[in-house]
Amino acid sequence: MSTKPAYKRILLKLSGEALMGSSQFGISSEVMTFLANEIKGIVDAGVEVALVVGGGNIFRGEGLARGGMDRITGDHMGMLATVINGLAIQDAIERIGLQARVQSALRINEVCEDYIRRKAQRHLEKGRVVIFAAGTGNPFFTTDSAAALRAVEVSADLLLKATKVDGIYTADPKKDPKATKYSTLTYDQALDQRLSVMDQTALVLCRDNKMKLRVYDMDRPGALMKIVMGDDTIGTHVTV
Ligand code: GTP
Repeated sequence: MSTKPAYKRILLKLSGEALMGSSQFGISSEVMTFLANEIKGIVDAGVEVALVVGGGNIFRGEGLARGGMDRITGDHMGMLATVINGLAIQDAIERIGLQARVQSALRINEVCEDYIRRKAQRHLEKGRVVIFAAGTGNPFFTTDSAAALRAVEVSADLLLKATKVDGIYTADPKKDPKATKYSTLTYDQALDQRLSVMDQTALVLCRDNKMKLRVYDMDRPGALMKIVMGDDTIGTHVTV
């Protein structure tokens, strides 16, 4: 491994559930501090970092949709949940001395900036962490699709999807002891096998725009740094 980062600009997708830590709901301050420090490490190493965060730790639409709630209303509530998470991450990152900017795909100007691609790119060039909130701003799209879209829009060199397992497996490793990990996969394989790595919209967007994707375990301290420094043994690579 060299001392120079292998990637100039990355987009890191965090699920809302990842922010809960061991709780069943909400935002864990320990997780926020851990994440902020992992991110600071790579920013200090010269990597430009954009984030997309989900909202499942605050609001899950499926249950309410099953109970009869209008899907679009549920999706709007989910988007607002991602703004709450984005503000929490911005706060955690700024508390340890980095600059961060939340940009929302829904207009909430009193709270944060609007998503403006060129402005986001300037922030990244200045070493600020840009947190893209409110998904794509549209119902029916996941935050994985938002991550794929923003990664392509800001020309990220790598899309990183942080999960609770260290890559993509043939089956759920928590349920099936025979499950084995893929070290590499193509988007077409992931699509054909309907692997639950990301939804199909996100996978197709990445494939069609030749975005490199790595799925890795965010709970492992130092894994993020190793990846950006060129350690190709971590997680699963998904390529065209
Ligand atoms: P430069 O132009 O590179 O200096 O970037 P900057 O973000 O520091 O400058 P700007 O004057 O755009 O923003 C100053 C502060 O206001 C930053 O904390 C921004 O996040 C915040 N800000 C900018 N636009 C908005 C907005 O529409 N809504 C809210 N709530 N804050 C904003």
